[in-house]
Amino acid sequence: MAVGVFDSGLGGLTVLNAVTKRLPDVPFVYFGDNAHAPYGVRDANDVYNLTTAAVSRLWDEGCNLVILACNTASAAALRRMQESWIPTDKRVLGVFVPLIEALTERNWGDNSPPREVAVKNVALFATPSTVASRAFQRELAFRAIGVDVEAQACGGVVDAIEDGDMILADALVRSHVDALHRKMPNPEAAILGCTHYPLMADAFQSALGDHVKVYSQADIVAESLADYLTRHPKMIGTGITSKFLTTGDAARVSSRATQFLKRQITFEKA
Ligand code: DGL
Repeated sequence: MAVGVFDSGLGGLTVLNAVTKRLPDVPFVYFGDNAHAPYGVRDANDVYNLTTAAVSRLWDEGCNLVILACNTASAAALRRMQESWIPTDKRVLGVFVPLIEALTERNWGDNSPPREVAVKNVALFATPSTVASRAFQRELAFRAIGVDVEAQACGGVVDAIEDGDMILADALVRSHVDALHRKMPNPEAAILGCTHYPLMADAFQSALGDHVKVYSQADIVAESLADYLTRHPKMIGTGITSKFLTTGDAARVSSRATQFLKRQITFEKA
C-alpha cells in the first residue's frame, strides 16, 4: 500500500516533490496520464472518464488514498467522483481547497461563514477547462467575501511543458500575464492553478513583479496531506514501494521528469 499521486502528465511532479520532502517515510505511487495530456482542453465528461480510469489503476497498486495533483481533474471530476463513484474505504483528495484555505487564512475544515480577507484582487492562472468550471470562484465564495478574481485561461502552456519546449512556455506565460494585466492591472496575489505552472514559477513572478504574492500548490498540498495523515494514519498502509507509472512513452517521460526534478526518475508503462 502507498499513497497515490495523479496528474494528466508531468505537472503533478511538483506536488510529488513536495509531499516526498514533507513525508519522507511515506511511499508514493505517481501516475501520469501523459498519453492523454493535456486535460485542460477536454470537456468535463472526458476528464471524468480519464481520471476515474487512472485512479482505479492506483487502487490496483494498493493506494487507498489518492491525491488528484491536477486542478483540471479536481475542478471537472472530483465532485462527481465523490458523489457516486469512490468506495467507502477509499479517499480521493483534490488540490483546490488547501490552496483556497491558505489564501483565506483558514485552518483545515474551518466551515465558518465567509468573511473578509486581506487580499482583494486575485489573479487566477489555470487551464481553459479549470477556468470554465468556475470551481475556484465557487470554493472561494464559501470562505471569503469581497475578493475580486480575474481568471486567465493559459492555453498552450501545458503542451509546451509536456513537449519540453521551455522557451515557448516562457513566452506563453508572459503573454498570458499581459492579457491578465489588461483585465486587472494591479493584482495583489496570483494563484498558479495548474500543477504544471510551478515549473514556470520564475517566469510568472518576473512578469507579475516582485510585489505580487504568487501562491503555488505544492507546499500547501504537502502540509495539508501531512495533517490529513496525522488524523487518518491507516490511509498510508504498510507498503514500502514508490514508483512512477505513465500511459505515455516511459523513456521520454523519464527524461523530462529527470530534467524537471533534477534527480533520476524512472517511469514504467502503466
Ligand atoms: N496539471 C494539470 C492541472 O493542474 C493538468 C493540465 C492539463 O493536462 O491540461 O490542471
